[in-house]
Amino acid sequence: MGDLFMLWVAVGMCCATFRVSAWSVNNFLITGPKAYLTYTTSVALGAQSGIEECKFQFAWERWNCPENALQLSTHNRLRGATRETSFIHAVSSAGVMYTITKNCSMGDFENCGCDESKNGKTGGHGWIWGGCSDNVEFGERISKLFVDSLEKGKDARALMNLHNNRAGRLAVRATMKRACKCHGISGSCSIQTCWLQLASFREMGDHLKAKYNRALKIELDKRRLRAGNSAEGRWAPAEAFLPSAEAELIFLEESPDYCTRNASLGIYGTEGRECLQAGRNTSRWEHRSCGRLCTECGLHVEGRRTEAVSSCHCKFHWCCTVRCEQCRREVTKYYCARAPASVRPPG
Ligand SMILES: *[C@@H]1O[C@H](CO)[C@@H](O)[C@H](O)[C@H]1NC(C)=O
Ligand SMILES: *[C@@H]1O[C@H](CO)[C@@H](O)[C@H](O)[C@H]1NC(C)=O
Ligand SMILES: *[C@@H]1O[C@H](CO)[C@@H](O)[C@H](O)[C@H]1NC(C)=O
Repeated sequence: MGDLFMLWVAVGMCCATFRVSAWSVNNFLITGPKAYLTYTTSVALGAQSGIEECKFQFAWERWNCPENALQLSTHNRLRGATRETSFIHAVSSAGVMYTITKNCSMGDFENCGCDESKNGKTGGHGWIWGGCSDNVEFGERISKLFVDSLEKGKDARALMNLHNNRAGRLAVRATMKRACKCHGISGSCSIQTCWLQLASFREMGDHLKAKYNRALKIELDKRRLRAGNSAEGRWAPAEAFLPSAEAELIFLEESPDYCTRNASLGIYGTEGRECLQAGRNTSRWEHRSCGRLCTECGLHVEGRRTEAVSSCHCKFHWCCTVRCEQCRREVTKYYCARAPASVRPPG
């Protein structure tokens, strides 16, 4: 996983959310050139928003983007090169680019702002460029500078990480949208001015999740790897066999099934995880989570009655407060539990 954890160190610095161990605090974010320091906090926030998106996207999966996975994987012997690793790299790299780009549009930095290079030019039928287009180029550069430079190795894993970092940044670009404003006599909209803006970070996350689902496994030539010259030239693993793969996530190793706890690999296992039974609100994917997390892992689904407290009977009082009562109702939540010994399958 390279030194992605270094970003986590930075995240820990800014938000005191994550524990930092002493061995990891030797990174350039602290000791590096002064110019970097201007962006450090924003870079850390960006990486954090990437990880939060990862947690959202994987909330109902066996692997649910645990914090420890990143920390453990910085030990060399455990460096993963799985599909999940590819997602973490892409989403963090995208998060940094996204945040820095937003910062530019908000005028947070002196040396970047909106991209207004095309303003005034005709964009298409009935519209011209105008307004504040998000300046993704700058965000892209900063993300590359910070995130890619954490990759110090020259091996296949490093190349994989660099590729996925880039795929993450391409996803930010790919999900950009045109937004427009109407002009003309009394809103007749005879002419529009348009600008390019970032999609919501959630949309970008959905886009990357789809890429995760169809990530490509790269078969490596083991002999060549052992000889240590896999970084020769500009070896671009995916492009080697699929020219259109630059925006795709790639991985080198099959994932474990993530069912069973294995502390030394940083895998929690799914025992004790909550899952969702068919409900009015659940998407089909969430809907299947009890199967995925519990039964397909040899666990059974256990319902537990709990009391949920929520606001209800809210009344508006003149002026201007809303008072509510607290209502309690019983809800059933579902968890993966070890099957009773008598029905446990042999082995
Ligand atoms: C960049 O944006 C984030 C929120 O998107 C904000 O918290 C942070 O303070 C901004 N950075 C700067 C330098 O203003
Ligand atoms: C955890 O994984 C390692 C590496 O695959 C394996 O050697 C070990 O036996 C596993 N431990 C458990 C408790 O399954
Ligand atoms: C269903 O979704 C709505 C909006 O997304 C939310 O307000 C509501 O609490 C959800 N209901 C349940 C039972 O989860």
